[in-house]
Amino acid sequence: MNTNYTIREMKLTDHQDLIELWESTEGLCLDEEDSYDNMKIFLDRNVGLSFVAIIDGKIIGTIKGAQDGRRGYISHIMVLPQHRGLGIAKVLYVKTLAALKAQGIWKCNLYVLNQNTKAMEFWKKNGWCELDREFSMLQMDMRKNNATG
Ligand SMILES: CC(C)(COP(=O)(O)OP(=O)(O)OC[C@H]1O[C@@H](n2cnc3c(N)ncnc32)[C@H](O)[C@@H]1OP(=O)(O)O)[C@@H](O)C(=O)NCCC(=O)NCCS
Repeated sequence: MNTNYTIREMKLTDHQDLIELWESTEGLCLDEEDSYDNMKIFLDRNVGLSFVAIIDGKIIGTIKGAQDGRRGYISHIMVLPQHRGLGIAKVLYVKTLAALKAQGIWKCNLYVLNQNTKAMEFWKKNGWCELDREFSMLQMDMRKNNATG
């Protein structure tokens, strides 16, 4: 197995490759906001926070990073099964955390599907803490609810 990988920033032109990778990865959630147009908005707003890992010219690992001026957010972190256990995911999230810190953001949040026990173990093993469960995540989907009139 080739374990020589490189990391570079995620680019909009990666979109099609990323969608194929993400769709074939258990544990990730994709929706309308993973479209090309939304990825452009995301990358333009969050410059320097998202990365891909490459082996033999192919993307084998990904992370999307964002921040809202107060908290950082990580999503779409994955490594292809045949390249797991090599420290690639850790390198990816450390790069995003370092970039967040350089932007003055010291706390980073992420969501884990309840059934994704392996990912939860991964995060906890690496020092991420589950916040107390005295809150729920709410969302307004404006495609479904005409809240803005
Ligand atoms: C979770 C995932 C990204 C980890 O990728 P990876 O490249 O294998 O992880 P790494 O090799 O960087 O692991 C870093 C460390 O975590 C440990 N680790 C990796 N997976 C682990 C697991 N499931 N449970 C506990 N520890 C784990 C490694 O042993 C390593 O420890 P070390 O630093 O002491 O050597 C990968 O399993 C994946 O793509 N899963 C599917 C997508 C997914 O669920 N993403 C998370 C969404 S929240």
